[in-house]
Amino acid sequence: MPAMSTQEKIQAIAACRGVRPVSQLTAYDYPTARLLDEAGIDMLLVGDSLGMMVLGFPDTTSVTLEHILHHTAAVARGCSRALLVADMPIHSYDTPEQAVRSARALVDAGAEAVKLEGGTAVQDRIRAITRDGIPVQAHIGLLPQHIKEDGGYRMRGKTDSEAQALLADVAAVADAGAFSVVIECTRPEVAARITAASPIITIGIGAGHSTCDGEVQVIHDLIGAFPWFTPRFAIQHASVATSISDAVKKWKDDLLLPPAKHR
Ligand code: KIV
Repeated sequence: MPAMSTQEKIQAIAACRGVRPVSQLTAYDYPTARLLDEAGIDMLLVGDSLGMMVLGFPDTTSVTLEHILHHTAAVARGCSRALLVADMPIHSYDTPEQAVRSARALVDAGAEAVKLEGGTAVQDRIRAITRDGIPVQAHIGLLPQHIKEDGGYRMRGKTDSEAQALLADVAAVADAGAFSVVIECTRPEVAARITAASPIITIGIGAGHSTCDGEVQVIHDLIGAFPWFTPRFAIQHASVATSISDAVKKWKDDLLLPPAKHR
């Protein structure tokens, strides 16, 4: 079967609305990307959660464009069917001009779309990137790049004015040409309200089950590969960290065996 173009992939994802949930998972390396692609995941995200999951930073605010470029190129080598979205790290889209330059660099590295955080506040950046022909996924609700000034990891949309602001954010990003929006850590009823009002595909994380058109998860949370911290809302279907520890301990114990008993 001939490979789908980026536009065909986006149309196919949009056509899922009301038919089946859209799936999106983070990937930061070639083997993970290839496994997720072969498993039929709709969108891969080279998220700036890379900072915590792979690079050992306490949050996403130390991630640079160079980090994301390096990992996007690796993921692109393992991704053929899914839509490859790359996160724009903090301070890579401070102005519309810089946003376009950074988005182009990500596309040159193999991304088919870019994601950036913010609603109304970054509408000019989203418009500039989409006018340059690069598809954008927006990200509203809890914005990890802004946790320091936004008062930490707390649920968004708790008051009516916060919910109204989120509805205005979705209208702004859709008007600027975004094809999808991630809604992070909002009350489930607010995510459902936003989805009902949204002209574009909504993807939830920590926003309740079945409240959006699809869901995104950090792959390390899903497979239990980062045991030191797991968000409360994460769904874990494997325990990779335990498997690694067990295999390593077993191998270390095997080293003590006399040659006759060593496999
Ligand atoms: O960086 C990331 O992994 C993300 C998801 C949490 C949506 O932005």
